[in-house]
Amino acid sequence: MTAPPETSPANNRVLSGMRPTGRLHLGHYHGVLKNWARLQRDYECYFFIADWHALTTHYEQPETMREHVWEMVIDWLAAGVDPARATMFIQSHVPEHAELHLLLSMVTPLGWLERVPSFKEQQQRLRGRDLATYGFLGYPLLQSADILMYRAAHVPVGEDQAPHVELTREIARRFNEFFGRGGDAEAAIKRMGKRDEKTYRRLKKSYAESGERDARARARELISSHNNLNAEDKERLLGDLEGRGRAILPEPRALLTEAAKMPGLDGRKMSKSYENTIALRDQPERVTRAIRAMPTDPARVRLSDPGDPEKCPVWQLHLVYSDEGVREWASKGCRAAAFGCLECKQPLLDAVLAEQKEFHRRAEHFENNPREVRGMIEDGTDKARQTARETMKLVREAVGAVYE
Ligand code: TRP
Ligand code: SF4
Repeated sequence: MTAPPETSPANNRVLSGMRPTGRLHLGHYHGVLKNWARLQRDYECYFFIADWHALTTHYEQPETMREHVWEMVIDWLAAGVDPARATMFIQSHVPEHAELHLLLSMVTPLGWLERVPSFKEQQQRLRGRDLATYGFLGYPLLQSADILMYRAAHVPVGEDQAPHVELTREIARRFNEFFGRGGDAEAAIKRMGKRDEKTYRRLKKSYAESGERDARARARELISSHNNLNAEDKERLLGDLEGRGRAILPEPRALLTEAAKMPGLDGRKMSKSYENTIALRDQPERVTRAIRAMPTDPARVRLSDPGDPEKCPVWQLHLVYSDEGVREWASKGCRAAAFGCLECKQPLLDAVLAEQKEFHRRAEHFENNPREVRGMIEDGTDKARQTARETMKLVREAVGAVYE
């Protein structure tokens, strides 16, 4: 078996998407958005609103979609996603996603889709909805199209989405096997210039003949840092180095988000369907009321009853928001019945309100300037579409759907 075509070391593109299904909450912030805001500093980030994905499960509510889309963009901005650093766009504004989905579907075995764990799980979880649809079965393949379109190297997702990225890798491999053979590397090698051409051929030979990893690493370095080569050349040469045709669609990797589990107001996972959320842009009065009303260890009936943080949802919040010192104070005080639960909640309340203040501060400008938000998405879409067009050109050529 040949080694799978990986993305080039020069590729530091990140892509991720989110379905517009309602106001975002602190679970989204601590699980996803905080990570996006961090990634945008070091990676070339594309973040998009997966409106077609939302339709696969919520197709009977078209009227709420419009509102959700714009509110979600403002939530992203509130969380610190920065249009100066990250490209944000709407999936359906780049119809190339549908075309790539269609072309990928030609080489996607039905069994691969039926075996994706979320397929059966979601059908059972959302039992009230009819999910025996073609669109729903194709959900992970549409996601593959989203990812492969941008030739992204990294896909930041939660654990639940890892199988979708794995499927994407398999689809890319299959597509490249069918269509990726015979790219012309010679022209690209010539473009490196006499001296580097010689070096490259020597390193390639040494890797091919004796499997020298060091030679391979040096050749990769030579390719990825070369000034005379464009991205396409580089991809082609990386393929050439491995002795295979060029990877039309490079295989992405999941960038698993390690996030503290965000408890909801009742101690279960924070989730809209449990109605236990704090929204990113909730009003301070509601947040205060909600946290004060949170259940605690039932053993603490009276102030003098000691408690056990492990049995208390509030403790889970401390794990997300409090530093060592506060945690120790809370845990000791709880076990010794040194204070009441309201007192234990106070530093949390302060932390959550301070965080929310920042969300409100960032969001306010955009709430008052909806046209600016639309303009920003338009710019992002233009940029995304440009990349999408380039990929589709390669893909159409590869599958033979170009007639001149
Ligand atoms: N399926 C993802 C979710 O439910 C959303 C999504 C759609 C996505 N396309 C994507 C995530 C591409 C990452 C990359 O969260
Ligand atoms: Fe929970 Fe704190 Fe009350 Fe203990 S003191 S039960 S940790 S809220």
